[in-house]
Amino acid sequence: MRVFLGITGASGAPYAERLLRALVAADCEVGLCASGAGIEVIATEVYGDPRLPRDEVLARLTDGAGDGITIHDPNDWRSPYASGSAKVDGYVICPCSMATLATIASGSMQNLVHRAASVALKEERKLVLMPRETPLSAIHLETMLTARRAGATILFLAPGFYHGAESVDDLLDFVVARALDQLRIDNVLIRRWGE
Ligand SMILES: Cc1cc2nc3c(=O)[nH]c(=O)nc-3n(C[C@H](O)[C@H](O)[C@H](O)COP(=O)(O)O)c2cc1C
Repeated sequence: MRVFLGITGASGAPYAERLLRALVAADCEVGLCASGAGIEVIATEVYGDPRLPRDEVLARLTDGAGDGITIHDPNDWRSPYASGSAKVDGYVICPCSMATLATIASGSMQNLVHRAASVALKEERKLVLMPRETPLSAIHLETMLTARRAGATILFLAPGFYHGAESVDDLLDFVVARALDQLRIDNVLIRRWGE
């Protein structure tokens, strides 16, 4: 499977790290693109140093994650993910900032993350947006409804606790498993309800 993973500047970078590894473990070919703010949030939340340069953040993020990851610059309009003619099975933006969500919902495209999402919608392909913000303004809520009506799946970064989570990793796995389910990728990250 070929999957686009966009990482933008909302809190929740550990989810993105976990999702990237899960996609590679599932033998996906992953196209990875992080916005400038996305890099800053990864640097802050995963590596504890907001000033880490982009290359260093991406090197650490992909180090040991296995083969199959291609990193794309946010301005790389020649990337296959910038066109509907490229075969892509699914698109996921994790975490998805309200800024990126609003840009996608408006139809505007300022970077490859926006463009890939726009391509997914126009080609009627699976697009999973994973926002994090709280509380939510009426603008946020309307933006999410617009994106949903256009065909996107809104999968909030809101882990459940009913599966007996004992660690932060369990909470990350809960959300990542739901994202993989949406992308129709088999996974056994969490015990399923009723099993
Ligand atoms: C440490 C940090 C945490 C942030 N958390 C959020 C957040 O949870 N949700 C959100 O919508 N924006 C958050 N922001 C603000 C976005 O990064 C900002 O709106 C940025 O312009 C988003 O750009 P992007 O969508 O291109 O990544 C955060 C920024 C920083 C530096």
